[in-house]
Amino acid sequence: MNYGHFDDERREYVITQPDTPLPWINYLGSESYFGLISNTAGGYSFYKDARLRRLTRYRYNNAPLDMGGRYIYLRDNASLQSWSPSWMPTRQQLDSYECRHGMGYTVIKSQLAGIESRTRYFVPLGSPLEIWETTLTNHRDETADLSVFSAVEFALWDANDDATNFQRNYSIGEVEIVGNVIYHKTEYRERRDHFAYFACSEALAGYDTNREAFLGPYWGWDSPRAVTTGQSSNSMAHGWQPIGSHHVKVQLKAGEQKKIIFILGYHENPKDAKFDPPESQTINKKTILPIISRYLDATEVEKAFQALHAHWQGLLDKFQVSTPDVHTNRMVNIWNAYQTMITFNMSRSASYFESGIGRGMGFRDSTQDLLGFVHLIPERARERILDLAATQLPTGGAYHQYRPLTKRGNNDVGSGFNDDPLWLVLAVTAYVKETGDWSILEEPVPYDNQPGSEQPLHDHLQRSLQYTLDRLGPHGLPLIGRADWNDCLNLNCFSDSPGQSFQTTTNKDGKVAESVFIAGLFVLAAKEMAALAERYALQVTSYTFNVQPSTFYTDAISQMEKIIWQHGWDGDWFRRAYDDFGHVLGSKENDEGRIFIEPQGICVMAGLGIEDGRAEKALNSVGEHLATPHGIVLHQPAFTRYYLHLGEISSYPPGYKENASIFCHTNPWIMIAEAKLGHGDKAHDYYSRINPSVREELSDLHRCEPYVYAQTIAGKDAPTHGEAKNSWLTGTAAWNYVAISQWILGIRPTYDGLQVAPVIPSAWSGFEAVRSYRGVRYVIKVERKGAGSEVQLEVDGKSMEGNVIPMPVENTKEVRVRVTII
Ligand code: GLC
Ligand code: GLC
Repeated sequence: MNYGHFDDERREYVITQPDTPLPWINYLGSESYFGLISNTAGGYSFYKDARLRRLTRYRYNNAPLDMGGRYIYLRDNASLQSWSPSWMPTRQQLDSYECRHGMGYTVIKSQLAGIESRTRYFVPLGSPLEIWETTLTNHRDETADLSVFSAVEFALWDANDDATNFQRNYSIGEVEIVGNVIYHKTEYRERRDHFAYFACSEALAGYDTNREAFLGPYWGWDSPRAVTTGQSSNSMAHGWQPIGSHHVKVQLKAGEQKKIIFILGYHENPKDAKFDPPESQTINKKTILPIISRYLDATEVEKAFQALHAHWQGLLDKFQVSTPDVHTNRMVNIWNAYQTMITFNMSRSASYFESGIGRGMGFRDSTQDLLGFVHLIPERARERILDLAATQLPTGGAYHQYRPLTKRGNNDVGSGFNDDPLWLVLAVTAYVKETGDWSILEEPVPYDNQPGSEQPLHDHLQRSLQYTLDRLGPHGLPLIGRADWNDCLNLNCFSDSPGQSFQTTTNKDGKVAESVFIAGLFVLAAKEMAALAERYALQVTSYTFNVQPSTFYTDAISQMEKIIWQHGWDGDWFRRAYDDFGHVLGSKENDEGRIFIEPQGICVMAGLGIEDGRAEKALNSVGEHLATPHGIVLHQPAFTRYYLHLGEISSYPPGYKENASIFCHTNPWIMIAEAKLGHGDKAHDYYSRINPSVREELSDLHRCEPYVYAQTIAGKDAPTHGEAKNSWLTGTAAWNYVAISQWILGIRPTYDGLQVAPVIPSAWSGFEAVRSYRGVRYVIKVERKGAGSEVQLEVDGKSMEGNVIPMPVENTKEVRVRVTII
């Protein structure tokens, strides 16, 4: 059953039934202020850091699952009926309901008893605040006498402390109310110079700031006493749970319409101008009031919305395609690109499944996310690269995570995930190929944020690779450390105490367990470095710093490849690892965990075995042992019990998460590998199996949003095979984008120009694409004449050798490319 449909023209997903299998959410904000919003207006907001600057409270894992958010209540003061126009939290049956999730905004529209309500939620560019613009329309024949209540529950800033430290928190809540603005100023009296505010465009009939007063003792958000009785109590929060609720009375004549604007925002005052008068405890409002009055003006709101719309249009227009497959088109043109931007902003920090409390931005996560959005916002990719590299350790190793607010490495999780630094190489080379900005390699970047330790970024890349070479195990393969890409393959952990973190517990010295995956990733990264070094030598005549020649990398590559063939090849596929006893994993010798997806993907992407048929063999084994109709699982057979020497991977029930689910992040590696072998049908088939738009009609099974990828889909060993989990914040977004755009459609940046080498399904007669690249618009038309994947290029009417379009002469705006597949 479908719960909605795509509106591709407007770049929206339209949900037509409020009780979706799970909350189907969207993200608001793209700079410093962010919010999550579900199809029933649930969710929360924060400034920059979901844990440390939380504006509104959210109870994860609640019952019902999605309770608490940006609620508006309506009350008919004549009939005494009250309801939520977003269905939640009152769950009053509505006569009509529609939620449109768009690019950076959500519109929820409904009607009950002739009263239509439409609320548009968005965060304007350049201002740390969110706007709720509500339009009420009276479709009745007579005047309606309505009450409108808004409601948010404030978090006391540190979301973790907010949810645990009640002996303190029940005493610290403070608010101010002036006119139609509610100010939340907990801890402003001491070290905070920021506060939140919740403003309304209308004169108030009343307000509440004390939760108990608004809800009534023992009553919940589904039936606040203030709403059911139509009476706010003008409560002042002193401690306990501060909330913001405005009460506005509205008389609407037949056919009349009324707009009410609410703004929820974050504001910082200069440290020495916090109070007004200075010796008082009253918030200085001089700096915020102009912002509030600006956005309470409907014309300004419309302007801000149009600017946001234009912003997204500008971003998405950088790459648009038209293929014979509607699912491919809408993912590439709209939702996949959008999701890569959200993962860039959030990494894995804040969703309904990543609580925003536990972790910072992952090093390997953010470096991979970058692959998906670098063409959209290269300037911010540059900044992200430099931030990440600055947390790198002098050994070349990396903190596993860093905190976005401080940009420092997260000591709680530490380092020692031995794949981490290699991803930086892929991110930087992707950035240079996209932008041609070689200067980034010379940018001085510190190690571990220590002033004085700055070295050119290029040195960081060298150390990333050296880190692997300095840590080789008994077979000459890279030591795995705490884990590699698979965070749960903890071969040095040996944890037998409940509750111990698999990520940070180490009971072995780490000198034996090795990873074939890291070996493959090393070859991939070293090939990128060799190519970079070669070009770099052409770019500059003399270096002011030490640069390894490309032969250094080619030697290291041959050596590593030799070792992989010796100890990492199992005859029909690549092995996965060697454990602390030196025993193989991912081999025919194993009863469980005989074959894993990760090394097949990464080794073939690195080019191993492409010439001699072994790559093909490995991919055939993937097809035979790991592929399911819902995607490709991580490994087979799943682990049926806990193995002390394998760690968290065997802690999950079979078919879930790292224990043999379809971990969607890895599927595009196989798509790319298939494309590298010229198998367009296979590559696109795998692409379609996990494409959320294709899976829309399976919504009752899939359960997650049909417009974004989820981290996992339950594998074939799970009782719920096909059910997706943990939507939105996953490396799946970036990698699928890379797989479809660069390898299947085959349009990829190189150091020398844009390459067009499509490996498309045999049934496609071709496709069209428009790609912005280094300031030039490439209008590309691909036509299939033959069955293969070889191409002939015609650039601006002239036929050309090869498949890389040379850089056009300066000031060229547009290049027309005809591609014939022969
Ligand atoms: C999660 C982590 C990612 C890891 C993956 C597999 O998605 O964020 O870093 O590679 O799980 O364990
Ligand atoms: C758990 C998850 C894994 C994630 C890791 C770090 O192990 O299963 O996917 O990468 O935590 O957050």
